[in-house]
Amino acid sequence: MKRVFSGIQPSGTLTIGNYLGAMRQFVDLQEEADCLFCVVDMHAITVPQEPADLRRNTRSLAALYLAAGIDPERSVLFVQSHVPAHAELGWILQCVVHFGELGRMTQFKDKSTKKNVVTAGLFTYPALMAADILLYQADLVPVGDDQKQHLELTRDIAERFNARFGHTFTVPEVMIPKVGGRIMSLEDPTKKMSKSDESAGAYISMLDDADTIRRKIARAVTDSGREVRYDTAEKPAISNLMTIYALCAGKSLADVEAMYEGKGYGVFKKDLAEVVVATLEPIQARYRELVESDEIEHILREGARKARERAAATLDQVKERIGFLL
Ligand code: AQP
Repeated sequence: MKRVFSGIQPSGTLTIGNYLGAMRQFVDLQEEADCLFCVVDMHAITVPQEPADLRRNTRSLAALYLAAGIDPERSVLFVQSHVPAHAELGWILQCVVHFGELGRMTQFKDKSTKKNVVTAGLFTYPALMAADILLYQADLVPVGDDQKQHLELTRDIAERFNARFGHTFTVPEVMIPKVGGRIMSLEDPTKKMSKSDESAGAYISMLDDADTIRRKIARAVTDSGREVRYDTAEKPAISNLMTIYALCAGKSLADVEAMYEGKGYGVFKKDLAEVVVATLEPIQARYRELVESDEIEHILREGARKARERAAATLDQVKERIGFLL
């Protein structure tokens, strides 16, 4: 059975981009793999977070994982900071990765430009991400397209460590969905949809109510012309909306194109809003039940216990290999 690991940052409320690009794959993978899913709170603090918001978002993200279909009986669901081995291996891997490699990460460049304060943690973040994955000897890492470069670096780090100290880490494969790997902003189709975008109109949150979803989709930018056609070069905005439609409705892009031939943007956007509402409503209903209960604390405590056990085996071996006195 393949081992799967992935994480999501509690840096805001998840967007439909996080859901379609990542979380939906996690739910499906439970059928065939040994899965660990993580709320990566230590990654979230690489940019400033209000403590009360971080605590609320961490709990809310755990509830969303469960509401979307992560089954704690089958998968290990836990919070990164509850397993100190992530920080320990993260430090060791900072001493394996090269400064120049970290400087080439496009996410670092994007997140650090035009910022008054750039933390060292934002720069070294990919080493911690490598630790998250390598600790569990993951074979497969399902992520959105924006994480591809970090995954390639994780592979390089694993190979470098293995070459120097002997085989220690499984070198993981990345898994990016062919459609929906990068859902774009509703306000600017050249920018990725992000949960920490300053403008709430740029994203659909997984917890937006039906009217908010309808309003955001009605206001979403479109391209010139009125034809609903998938063409990312000529029609990036409508192609992005078509991708969201196709994934939520379980149709192909060609189906969507055929359905709206000659109908124009207005009809398409109205239907899209309803398809998104229908996708999110059942998740939101389960979320509301869960977030009120103390079941989450119990599940996370149990998840951390299982994760700590598995992580310890790798970390002990790493320490021994690099020459720490045990
Ligand atoms: N727009 C997106 N389309 C498809 N997949 C996406 N992911 C993120 N945005 C999109 C995938 O969601 C998973 C969790 O992401 P993350 O929380 O670890 O951080 P991120 O990639 O930086 O996502 P955000 O929403 O942009 O967060 P902020 O605003 O805090 O930086 C990952 O698998 C990611 O690829």
